[in-house]
Amino acid sequence: PAYKEPYRPQYHFSPHHNWTNDPNGLVYYKGEYHLFYQYNPMGNTWGHMSWAHAISKDLVHWQSLPLAIPEDEKNMIFSGSCVVDKNNSSGFAQKPGQIPLVAVYTAHIIPDKSKPDDYLQNQHIAYSLDDGRTWTKYSGNPVLDLHKKDFRDPKVFWYEPGKKWIMVTVLPNEHIVQFHGSADLKTWSHLSDFGPAGDTNGIWECPDLLQVPVIGQAGKNKWVLLNSQQFTMQYFVGEFDGTVFHNETPSDTVLRPDYGPDFYAGITYNNLPFGHDPVLLGWANNWKYAQNIPTSPWRSAMSLPRSLRLKKDGNTWTLLQQPVKSLQTLRGGAPIVWTNKTITGSQDFPAKGQVIELETALFPAKDGVCGIRLAAGKEQAIIISYDAASQKLTVDRSKAGSNSFDNQFANFSSAAVRVPLQNTKLRLHVFLDKSILEVYANDGAVVLTTQLFPDAGLDGIVFFSEKGAMRILSATVWTLRSVW
Ligand code: FRU
Repeated sequence: PAYKEPYRPQYHFSPHHNWTNDPNGLVYYKGEYHLFYQYNPMGNTWGHMSWAHAISKDLVHWQSLPLAIPEDEKNMIFSGSCVVDKNNSSGFAQKPGQIPLVAVYTAHIIPDKSKPDDYLQNQHIAYSLDDGRTWTKYSGNPVLDLHKKDFRDPKVFWYEPGKKWIMVTVLPNEHIVQFHGSADLKTWSHLSDFGPAGDTNGIWECPDLLQVPVIGQAGKNKWVLLNSQQFTMQYFVGEFDGTVFHNETPSDTVLRPDYGPDFYAGITYNNLPFGHDPVLLGWANNWKYAQNIPTSPWRSAMSLPRSLRLKKDGNTWTLLQQPVKSLQTLRGGAPIVWTNKTITGSQDFPAKGQVIELETALFPAKDGVCGIRLAAGKEQAIIISYDAASQKLTVDRSKAGSNSFDNQFANFSSAAVRVPLQNTKLRLHVFLDKSILEVYANDGAVVLTTQLFPDAGLDGIVFFSEKGAMRILSATVWTLRSVW
């Protein structure tokens, strides 16, 4: 469908109508990237949680499929993952050679509907024998039950050295990630716990554990443990021996995959072909105000899919994220380019748009703040700025269109993070897609994802420097095609 509503992202995934939150069950199989996602089939706010379904051949163009796993009388279907059970370890195959896809998710059970806060959570499975099109809930559910109120978000993957399945879950209030192991996806035994560690300000949700290739060390991987903390995410780098995750991130360090306000519940794809970099996808929203963002008939979108690599400087590991390459197929026509330009004051870039990609390398001004204004009009703009004195990169949406729909949205309007220059240069790769801005700085060492709700006519691109001179080595802007 052509999506023409105000604020509708044109190359980020959003459901045609109704509410979504976390991506679920990311799995690659037979040339298809599956995206399941938390979805309310009945409305445009959170509720009746079920798994909806879309597929893609390139992680950019998506085709929606019928609802995959609906809630039932007993429970809602919360977040989880999908695996390809190549050896039919589960025994769900009905004929030789058939390969089951198995979804592992949290059942959110409310025994007495008049007391929605008296719930229970345990882990269930469902299987598909038709490449993810239709699903059957396993009759032996739950497969893992600790008789806990909060225990959720299973990420399952195959651990080849130990020839077993590993399930990563969280105990949200305790700030603990748990590891369980299984041979058949049906019986699980406890392996170890990780945490509390790092950021324990919010409840922990949506853990993931994966191997990430290390730049400059061919064939070398490190393990990365990801998890969400209510409004933001963090990651730890270390080793996993099949039982225990050995964290190597110093205890006084918090590393974040994204420093913007709108990146949550990010998880990675299972079963990618050998040599394919891991791909991370998150929910581009924030529980502080998620249910009030001014969009209809849908609410919320996914972030861009991001390829992952790790870089080591001294003893510090950094996750590098790059928007997946296939996004380049959306570049329409010849780009507009500036080279070697010195900016004092402000200067309009000779292109406009709310659906654009911008790449720039620049020497920031030595004094004062400099940067780029996007979705810019006379008074409005989202401001990406750099302050050489503090080495801080800031994204500020306080004057970027509508923000009166929720106090928390207005209060939470700017995010700043330290980005040391690379050989005195700052490199930015920026994606604006109507109501979502993603800024990747210095090869994706720092990423900020931010929602904004600008009027349709706010589409200027302006470079500015408040005090000293900023020198732009190059700035390139593409208009991107809609994928819808
Ligand atoms: C994270 C989360 C998960 C849960 C799901 C419910 O955003 O709270 O912990 O499984 O959303 O929709």
